[in-house]
Amino acid sequence: MVDSFLNMYKEIFFSVKSDGVESFTDALSELGALSVTIECLEGQEIIKDEAQFEAEYWDLNKVTVLISAEDEVKFAHLNPLNSTIVPDLDWVLEMQKNTPIQVIGETLWIVPSWHKVPVDAKEVLLLDPKNAFGTGDHPTTHLCLEWLVKNRPTGKTVIDYGCGSGILMIAAKKLGSTKISGYDIDSGSMKVMHQNCRENGIEEDVTLVAGAVADIVLANIHLGPLLTLVHTLKDLCKPKGVLVLSGILPFQLPQLLEAYLPHFSLNSVDTMNGWMRVVLRR
Ligand SMILES: C[S@@+](CC[C@H](N)C(=O)[O-])C[C@H]1O[C@@H](n2cnc3c(N)ncnc32)[C@H](O)[C@@H]1O
Repeated sequence: MVDSFLNMYKEIFFSVKSDGVESFTDALSELGALSVTIECLEGQEIIKDEAQFEAEYWDLNKVTVLISAEDEVKFAHLNPLNSTIVPDLDWVLEMQKNTPIQVIGETLWIVPSWHKVPVDAKEVLLLDPKNAFGTGDHPTTHLCLEWLVKNRPTGKTVIDYGCGSGILMIAAKKLGSTKISGYDIDSGSMKVMHQNCRENGIEEDVTLVAGAVADIVLANIHLGPLLTLVHTLKDLCKPKGVLVLSGILPFQLPQLLEAYLPHFSLNSVDTMNGWMRVVLRR
């Protein structure tokens, strides 16, 4: 009984006002949240911000948090709306079943390892994300992949900072990058990234080394780390190089730009399902 409980996950749900989402999600991470998803709370209208950018945000947000069932007590003081049990095995299998093959820009095929490669696939990226982030179906990853397909990195060097499964750097290589390298604060993700590189025939050493610089730097990480990484990302980016940031919510944009615009010029801001991609030039 105790053993089966320990193998369980739980999803707990919160309702959070837009101006509190950032500090709330930071607190969730500190308490040991395994993943956090932010959506529009049912019945809320999406509000268009007529300010500088066509930002979208929600007045009230539904925050869904995946935790180990044994950790639930740590989150009780945050007054969740409710919670549901997610058995470990089902959760992994369901996630895999629900991750389809994706085709980005009609050329780049992201094929998870549990699917067969379709015969008509063009540039194929084989992916086994295991426990690392980056299956390609999350809007923040999708925004970066879409940018790479539209701005093919042919003959360019690319750094993927916060590489997770390695999906972005491998995509860059498939799309013509001459040299890719990646780094993740999570050693498990680094291992998965190396495995995925090998599966895709990338044999060279792709670990980001001190002093490296690139024409294109990709960083799909949420706002908190991005604010502390301004100088790191600047130093990785060649003069006139491009920095692609993702993982940002519209209400976080002013804070992000305040930190980055002293060092970069703004190229574009695009939104997908409430998430933003910000492209900057050094
Ligand atoms: C949203 S995932 C993105 C993964 C992948 N690049 C993608 O686009 O799907 C963010 C990744 O950044 C890593 N990360 C978070 N903070 C970091 C930091 N300060 N330095 C390096 N990596 C970090 C996380 O471990 C995670 O793998």
